Amino acid sequence: MLPPVIYSAMHHLFVTYMFAAGGLAAWLRTKPLTRRLVAISLESIGFTNRANIAPALRRKRVDKDNPNITVWTFETNGIPLKAWDDRRAELETALGVIIVQAKYERGNQRVVLYTVPAESDLPDYLPWKDEYLSDKSFVLMLGKGYAGPVSVNLADIPHILLGGSTGSGKTILMKVMIRQAVQKGAEVAIVDFKGGVDFPPFWRDQLRLCYDDKTVLALLDDYIAAIESRKTLLFKSGQSNIDEYNLANNAHLPRYILACDEIAEMLDKTGMPKERKEQIGQIESRLSVIARQGRAFGVHLILATQRPDANVLSGQIRNNISCRICGRADNVLSQIILDSTSAADRIPKEAKGRFLLHDGTEFQGFWLDEGTL
Ligand SMILES: Nc1ncnc2c1ncn2[C@@H]1O[C@H](COP(=O)(O)OP(=O)(O)OP(=O)(O)O)[C@@H](O)[C@H]1O
Ligand SMILES: [Mg+2]
Repeated sequence: MLPPVIYSAMHHLFVTYMFAAGGLAAWLRTKPLTRRLVAISLESIGFTNRANIAPALRRKRVDKDNPNITVWTFETNGIPLKAWDDRRAELETALGVIIVQAKYERGNQRVVLYTVPAESDLPDYLPWKDEYLSDKSFVLMLGKGYAGPVSVNLADIPHILLGGSTGSGKTILMKVMIRQAVQKGAEVAIVDFKGGVDFPPFWRDQLRLCYDDKTVLALLDDYIAAIESRKTLLFKSGQSNIDEYNLANNAHLPRYILACDEIAEMLDKTGMPKERKEQIGQIESRLSVIARQGRAFGVHLILATQRPDANVLSGQIRNNISCRICGRADNVLSQIILDSTSAADRIPKEAKGRFLLHDGTEFQGFWLDEGTL
């Protein structure tokens, strides 16, 4: 007879072994099965390459930073990321999930899908609270996506292009950003050729408002002068951006932000007299200097539009704005803002304050009472 202690230890070991073996057997059985089922689902919607082979699931795991997210890694088998984006809705139905983000891994050999359960939802209404303000320079909070808070850091991605058809929520999102920027010590100027009627009096007190070409040009000249003088300062003291400069020199150089709620008012030359066309040309060339050089020197652009007209925004400016946000939009506007029709495809027609970020992240923007700053 074995002593009870040894017997009990062996019993535990046996039970543990059986569980482990059972788990391994289950893993061996279900993994290939999961892969096969996923392949069948993809084949059933015709998501295959020319040889009729679907992408192969390599791995499916829970995200280590966010247990709500499941990460699927596929061998693409030659199907480009664009096709995954274009057929997102069908893929979501086939896999029974909502795709939060799709991106390449290992060059373009693999596509990784970040997903949440199909029944997940975003709120329709998300009031802004000052406790959400980020203490990181210079992070602006935008809203909530399926994977959590959505934000943009102007220190990395310095300029924002915001599109959306009328009533989609552009002005409110812009005000949410401006409010945070002011609270974080930035000096904000607003271009509004309607004379600032969209902005209640106390907004006008705290912000610089530009009502016409002349005041816009004067503002842009100030910004370009600031870029030039900061260039010299940073060069002399050996820092590479204004955050580093402020830290090293105990200085408080503020960030400057130009926000324009409808860039067509400022930049559309159609049918304008020669003199105005020239002025618009000057505004354009200054904006493009800021778009190219503003990041390190803390000068930023937030440009919004609802007009689906590629002529309004020159490629020089547009190509240097890498943060793109689009609300409800038609194909043309979505294409101009995001370089794809995904906002037209994915944002519901009745949605307000619902946006897509350039990386495909869908979010509900914070709502801010129009009367407050
Ligand atoms: N984040 C949001 N959450 C809930 N409702 C919102 C949100 N943003 C906007 N709305 C609703 O949509 C309406 C229109 O919003 P907003 O004025 O920002 O749109 P817009 O895109 O600026 O329109 P326009 O191009 O006509 O100026 C608001 O009055 C509000 O009722
Ligand atoms: Mg508006």
